[in-house]
Amino acid sequence: MRRFIYFFETINRTQMGNNPLGVSKKHDAFDVVREYPVEGFTIMITGCTSGHGKVVARALYQSGATIIMACRSPWKMRKVEQELLEWYPQSTGQIKMLTLDLASFQLIRDARDAFAEMGLRIDVLINNAGVWKMSRYMTVDGYEYHKGVNYLGTYLFTRLMEEFINDQGRIVIVASSFHVGGTLGYDRVLDPRPVPFLLKLPNFIKRFVVSFRLYGTSKLALRYFTEEYQRRLLRNGKKHITVMSLHPGMMDTPILDLDELDRTEKFFTYPGQWLGLLLGRGVTKGASTATLLAAHPYIGRDELYEGQYFSSNHIAHWFRDDLDPGVARALYDDTERVVGQWLNLPKVTLVFGFGDNILV
Ligand SMILES: NC(=O)c1ccc[n+]([C@@H]2O[C@H](COP(=O)([O-])OP(=O)(O)OC[C@H]3O[C@@H](n4cnc5c(N)ncnc54)[C@H](OP(=O)(O)O)[C@@H]3O)[C@@H](O)[C@H]2O)c1
Repeated sequence: MRRFIYFFETINRTQMGNNPLGVSKKHDAFDVVREYPVEGFTIMITGCTSGHGKVVARALYQSGATIIMACRSPWKMRKVEQELLEWYPQSTGQIKMLTLDLASFQLIRDARDAFAEMGLRIDVLINNAGVWKMSRYMTVDGYEYHKGVNYLGTYLFTRLMEEFINDQGRIVIVASSFHVGGTLGYDRVLDPRPVPFLLKLPNFIKRFVVSFRLYGTSKLALRYFTEEYQRRLLRNGKKHITVMSLHPGMMDTPILDLDELDRTEKFFTYPGQWLGLLLGRGVTKGASTATLLAAHPYIGRDELYEGQYFSSNHIAHWFRDDLDPGVARALYDDTERVVGQWLNLPKVTLVFGFGDNILV
């Protein structure tokens, strides 16, 4: 029941907490940069070739930031670059490109090395790239795709980029309030078997529930990561970086990949899509929170924002308000073990209380 209420609040946008940044939920991304210009900032955004990330890139570039697009398709990046140059000729910012595929640890490492050669520093890293698939896919390293891309890929990339982030810099992680559907350790197989017409609806519901839970689990892990990573950065104390996560709201973007559904199954998705359009936030409004966290001058100067979760430009509640630091610690350590080789860490076998099953 609690899950249902939280889910409803998410759609209804009433799940906001306090508003220390003083920006109304009605502001869109372009209003935000009008109020807090980002001229001179260098901001890296992953997955900004479409949807939410693209609007964030537009707003920040328009306001004069240098944008580093970290995306998997060089062709799509060039297209976005052309659009930005055409639409905002007055911008004083620059556009740089980095090829990044979060579905492969090796390619993430390659992206880090390519970035090192560019000799740039970053003020803000926005981890926006994400997937939601209705069919079963695996990453090249053998992980379920939501977990591999949304969580493990983001974790590895963030850790690798840490050295390039300036003191007083920020890391913004685009999570989702659909973490409400997640449970650490959840990993079910999406059943791709064809079913007779009359059974299509129940089969579709099953697929949707499983994919919702897989997506939600990856976003839940990102929430834990945000808090634990912030704690460790503060403890480590070498430089001050603020880590925050956010829910942009329900937006009309191509995030839900329906590619492998047949016509009847696609038909069943229409009511959900209409509901999203009707009740969700438009993408420009949805993009305001990430833009605000990149631009607001208070962030970095006040510990109030450290490790926090935001929605609609406010600090938000999240479903697991009982976040257990022990679980966050174990998840972080387990993940570090999984990607340790790519972080150039010595091989360790962690015998931690929660063991492997957090990530199974
Ligand atoms: N839409 C919503 O209602 C909603 C709600 C809550 C949270 N979010 C989150 O918002 C973020 C942006 O999603 P969106 O709605 O804007 O969807 P989107 O338009 O599909 O954007 C996703 C971006 O991620 C990139 N991407 C996908 N797989 C990748 C990979 N393996 N490596 C690198 N980049 C990859 C995509 O690149 P390609 O163009 O090459 O595919 C695309 O640029 C996601 O993290 C999503 O979970 C969305």
